[in-house]
Amino acid sequence: MIRAKILGTGRGLPERVVTNDDLAEFLDTSDTWIRERTGICQRRIAAKETLLELCEEAARQAMDQSGVEAGELDMIIAATLTADHPLPNLSSSLQRVLGADNAVCFDLSAACSGFIFALTTAQMYIQSGHAKKVLVLGGEILSKIMDWTDRSTCILFGDGAGAAVVGVSENEQGILAADLGSNGKKGSVLSLPGRPVENPFRPAEKGPEKCYVHMEGQEVFKFAVSQVPASIRKLLEESGKSIADVDCFVLHQANLRIIRSAAKRLKAPEEKFFINMERYGNTSAASVPIALDEGIRSGRIKKGDLIVLSGFGGGLTWGSMLVQM
Ligand code: COA
Repeated sequence: MIRAKILGTGRGLPERVVTNDDLAEFLDTSDTWIRERTGICQRRIAAKETLLELCEEAARQAMDQSGVEAGELDMIIAATLTADHPLPNLSSSLQRVLGADNAVCFDLSAACSGFIFALTTAQMYIQSGHAKKVLVLGGEILSKIMDWTDRSTCILFGDGAGAAVVGVSENEQGILAADLGSNGKKGSVLSLPGRPVENPFRPAEKGPEKCYVHMEGQEVFKFAVSQVPASIRKLLEESGKSIADVDCFVLHQANLRIIRSAAKRLKAPEEKFFINMERYGNTSAASVPIALDEGIRSGRIKKGDLIVLSGFGGGLTWGSMLVQM
C-alpha cells in the first residue's frame, strides 16, 4: 500500500505581538484572568500582513525543508475560514505566488479541525495514487471576524499560518491512521453569520451589519474535553497502539485547561503534550501545523517519533491523526 508522509513543515506569523495587558487597555479584562482561564499570554495580530503573505511564508519554509520545488506540487489544499477574499480561492492565489503551475487547488472549511481534514484529504489522494506531492495549509486572520468588544471571545484568538508538504513514504513511516467526525446539531455553539441573500427576486432581509464569531464558551469547552480524548482513544485502539507508544500529542491550541483535561482523561503525562498557546493563542486551522512545525524545528519531535495530531472546533468538527515521523 502507498503511504503518505509529511516531508516538511513551515509557519508564517504576523510581526505584531499583542499581550494580555495590551487587550486590558480597551477591554474590561486582565492578564491574570486570561492566563488563569486559558493559558494564553500573548497572540500575533495581522497589523499589516495579508493571509496570503502568511501562508506563502509557511509554504516556502515547508518546501525548503522537504526539498520540493513548486513545479512538483500536484495539489494545494488550504484550510481557512478567513481567506483574504472568497474569489479567487486562497489555494489558487498561493499557486500564483509560488509558481506551482501543475497543482490542482482548492480550499477547505472545517474551522479549527481544518488542517487535519486537509491533511487527511491529501493522504487519500496520495494513497490512491492520484497525487504525489501535496501542499497542505491551515491559515487564519481571525482578528477580522472578532468582535473586539466581546471580552469572552476576542481574547482567545490570534492570526497565523502553518503548512506541510506531504509526499509518498519510502518506508513504513508516515500517516498511519485518522479519525474524523462532525456534529452539525451542535453547530450553533460556535458560529459566524454570513451575508444575507440579496437579489431582485427576494424580499430584502435585514442581516447583521458586521459578521462576528459567536461562541458559547462553556458548551465548546464541554464538547472539547469529551470529544478530543474519545477521538484519540478510538484512533489508538483501531491502530493497535497505546498511550505509552505516543511520543508527543499535538492538539489544537485552544485552551490550556482543555489540554490538561484531555491528558487527564487519557491518563497521559502532561509533558507529552506540545504547548505554545501562551505565545499565539488559538489560531484555528493554523494552530496544529504551527505547533507541529515548532515541535519539529525545536527538536522536540524527532524522526521516528509516533505523534498524535488533533483538532476540534466549529461545525462542530473534530479530527485526530496518528503519524510516524
Ligand atoms: N476577562 C475578565 N472576565 C471575563 C472575561 C475576560 N476576558 N471573559 C468573561 N469574563 C467573565 C464573565 O463575564 C463571567 O463573569 P460573571 O461571573 O460576572 O458573569 C466570568 O468571567 C466567568 O465567565 P465564564 O464564561 O463562566 O468563564 P469560563 O471559565 O467558562 O471561561 C472561556 C471562558 C471562554 C475561557 C472558556 O469557556 C473556554 O475556553 N471555552 C472554550 C472556548 C474555545 O476553546 N473555543 C474555541 C474552540 S475551537
